[in-house]
Amino acid sequence: MYICLEGIDGSGKSTQVEMLINWLKKCGIEVFRVFEPTDSPAGRLIRNMLRNPNATNENFQKTLALLFAADRIILMDKITEAEKKSKIVVSDRCFYSSLVYQNGADWIAEINKFAKKPDIVLLMDIDPETAISRCEGKDSFEDIDFLIKIRERYLDLAEKEDFMVVNAKNGLNKVHDDIKRVMARKLGMCI
Ligand code: TYD
Repeated sequence: MYICLEGIDGSGKSTQVEMLINWLKKCGIEVFRVFEPTDSPAGRLIRNMLRNPNATNENFQKTLALLFAADRIILMDKITEAEKKSKIVVSDRCFYSSLVYQNGADWIAEINKFAKKPDIVLLMDIDPETAISRCEGKDSFEDIDFLIKIRERYLDLAEKEDFMVVNAKNGLNKVHDDIKRVMARKLGMCI
């Protein structure tokens, strides 16, 4: 099973990934953790490029889209391998990030056609004002107008693709409890 957490920058996604993994492990479930961009050479290049003030420009975004897709293709083998070992894969972002951040054009979907579709997507939904106050301000995507658009695209996609939408404005533990409840239902576990 492949589970992905999505959300705008500052939505608290990475902390919730950590808490979810710790809980699954405590329940005796073997977990394989992944994140995008990955720590491959392509992923490191992406993280560098995200610090560039032009990162939201059109051609820069196209270049990033290609790099994100390339970084992702390498990751797919690792996910398949973990699933074969019956591990639950928990991912911080997946190809849906490219659809919303690099903006849904057909060719973006096309270059991501090798990406596996997660079985469950949890969308950490939060208003961009609160999210931005939690950001470190080091990346060019941490901009209020940009995040407003990204949130709208996420919510549109959530309807089409049946994401589980979690209110990420609540406190850490409440958000974690909400995620646990969703996951327990999906995995047939008691909490
Ligand atoms: P992330 O590591 O989740 O952010 P943080 O450093 O705050 O934990 O992701 C880094 C940035 O990359 C984030 O702004 C979203 C962006 N991104 C895309 O634009 N497209 C993608 O396909 C992915 C995976 C991430």
